[in-house]
Amino acid sequence: MRIVKVPLGSRSYAIKVGGGLLSRLGAECAQLKLGRRCAVITDSNVGKHFAKAALKSLAASGFEPVLISVPAGEKSKRIAVVEECYDQLAAHRLERKSFIVALGGGVVGDLAGFVAATYLRGMPFVQVPTTLLAQVDSSVGGKTGVNLKAGKNLAGAFYQPQLVLCDLDALKTLPKREYISGLGEVFKYGIIYDAILFAQLERNLPKLLQRDAATLADVIARCCEIKAAVVGQDETESGLRAILNFGHTIGHAVENSSGYGKFLHGEAISIGQVAAAKLSQKILGLPAGEVEQIEKLLVHAGLPVKIKLNLAQRQKLFAAMKLDKKTSGGEIKFVLAEKIGRAVWGRPVPAALIRQVLD
Ligand SMILES: NC(=O)c1ccc[n+]([C@@H]2O[C@H](COP(=O)([O-])OP(=O)(O)OC[C@H]3O[C@@H](n4cnc5c(N)ncnc54)[C@H](O)[C@@H]3O)[C@@H](O)[C@H]2O)c1
Ligand SMILES: [Zn+2]
Repeated sequence: MRIVKVPLGSRSYAIKVGGGLLSRLGAECAQLKLGRRCAVITDSNVGKHFAKAALKSLAASGFEPVLISVPAGEKSKRIAVVEECYDQLAAHRLERKSFIVALGGGVVGDLAGFVAATYLRGMPFVQVPTTLLAQVDSSVGGKTGVNLKAGKNLAGAFYQPQLVLCDLDALKTLPKREYISGLGEVFKYGIIYDAILFAQLERNLPKLLQRDAATLADVIARCCEIKAAVVGQDETESGLRAILNFGHTIGHAVENSSGYGKFLHGEAISIGQVAAAKLSQKILGLPAGEVEQIEKLLVHAGLPVKIKLNLAQRQKLFAAMKLDKKTSGGEIKFVLAEKIGRAVWGRPVPAALIRQVLD
């Protein structure tokens, strides 16, 4: 098992990465000095595979868990579902010392984290991320929240978990498309922060695609380390943390304007990362060879890197980009790469240039 520490003063916590961790959930929670009652929030897919094991492990350590299952999919990340969760927590009389376990992908993590942040003005929570994306990204760093009609993640809170358990065995049941989508976030860490990781990913892509456990343990722990280091320096995104949004300005707009669900998150940001790499070449002189390396890695992993848009769709995409909360004063700001392994943030980019790289 690998342990990555997230250094946030009194709210510091550990991310544990390894096989068989779900069966240790109860024992791990027992070390955190939490109340006896807890709620495991999961979704209809993940619950089928892992709810029983989670409940069993918690009960074996003396906890009294209840299960709250929401329908699988992005649609569960909304206020109405938050309210249903509150009602169930109230019905089961969870108290402020009780805790919440988020068992699932990014949707469950964001939703359950927001519920934990707000129910009784905050109760402890533990993340058990079951998608690759959730293990390397959404479960780390404390962003929680739900979508509004006006856009993704518009309502939420910064709220840190007490522990994150990344069980590598959980990835075995993940559908291939979801797994590859998660690789989109993995590659991002190499591009923005770690040229050595990027080179390893290029070298070990076949093993990664086979979900080789040893390779995954290395890669997931390194991604968590990078995210933890970035978040540790800038928890609430007043600066450096913005680099984690590489590929996300266009990526979010792609998700948003094409209707939630058409592109998976990692697919949308794959398109966004290639566009951001091309903008980086034009604005910061990112070498053409590195733009090619980035595009090649994403393509070889099976990720989409282009989107075909007619005029109306393009207008929709730009409108979505302008609505993004990272926009300020009407200018669209981007995270760009100076070279593979180093990114800068807050760079205003003219709309004409964005149009060029999307064509
Ligand atoms: N909080 C953050 O910092 C942050 C960062 C990145 C993304 N996100 C959010 O994360 C969400 C996307 O997360 P996701 O890609 O994990 O999607 P997801 O949670 O919807 O999971 C994808 C699908 O896989 C299923 N699934 C999950 N684990 C499984 C497993 N082990 N075996 C079989 N099926 C499984 C789910 O039921 C779902 O159908 C988006 O809402 C995005 O906004 C948040
Ligand atoms: Zn992302």
